[in-house]
Amino acid sequence: MKKGLFITFEGIEGCGKSTQARMLKEFLIKAGKHVFLTREPGGPKIAEEIRKMLLSVNNKEMLPQTEVLLYMASRSQHTGEWIIPELEKGKIVISDRYYDSTFAYQGAARKIDGKLIDTIRRYATFGLVPDITFLVDLPEEIGLSRILAKDADRLEQESIAFHKKVRNGFLELANKEPERFVVLDGNKSIKEIHDDVIDIICKELII
Ligand SMILES: Nc1ncnc2c1ncn2[C@@H]1O[C@H](COP(=O)(O)OP(=O)(O)O)[C@@H](O)[C@H]1O
Ligand SMILES: [Mg+2]
Repeated sequence: MKKGLFITFEGIEGCGKSTQARMLKEFLIKAGKHVFLTREPGGPKIAEEIRKMLLSVNNKEMLPQTEVLLYMASRSQHTGEWIIPELEKGKIVISDRYYDSTFAYQGAARKIDGKLIDTIRRYATFGLVPDITFLVDLPEEIGLSRILAKDADRLEQESIAFHKKVRNGFLELANKEPERFVVLDGNKSIKEIHDDVIDIICKELII
């Protein structure tokens, strides 16, 4: 039985997910909450090993089918070994990316059937759905300009057109589930976005 709160951050590369996830964690700790911050792909050992396969620039021949299954395999281990147990302890779990990224990257951008992804999603996550998902929305060219080309991983090296589809995919997901998603304007300053996040969280947690 889930007792904690599950918060996820989503959006294209460079939109500010990791920055905001970290700042929210610090805010909640100062407010006396028990917080568990994690990120995908990855988490526990097996999920991290799959992460290396997924992001390696040496794996350019990876098929979309393999990619979607590896993301979900990694997520399944992460959810079962870390996320659900932490939620059961009553913690606030923050994940920097979760399954919405698969719908945006492998679904909207790589054109894998959304219904198929949803079936695998339900199995891989044990039916866990985030309580709040913050989508940091930003034009793809701005997001990519914040990432150093020399450090770009296999997905980050995809074209601008690919990242445009990812961005639009995220916006469609937010439209479909407005009660779960909060869309944040990634053009704002780091501090302004953080304040928007805090407004929502304080209402949710009544702090
Ligand atoms: N709102 C913002 N405005 C300008 N720069 C930002 C903003 N948010 C994050 N950044 C910077 O952009 C880069 C990518 O941010 P990061 O949080 O790592 O993005 P993501 O995790 O979404 O890829 C970092 O150098 C970060 O300091
Ligand atoms: Mg990040």
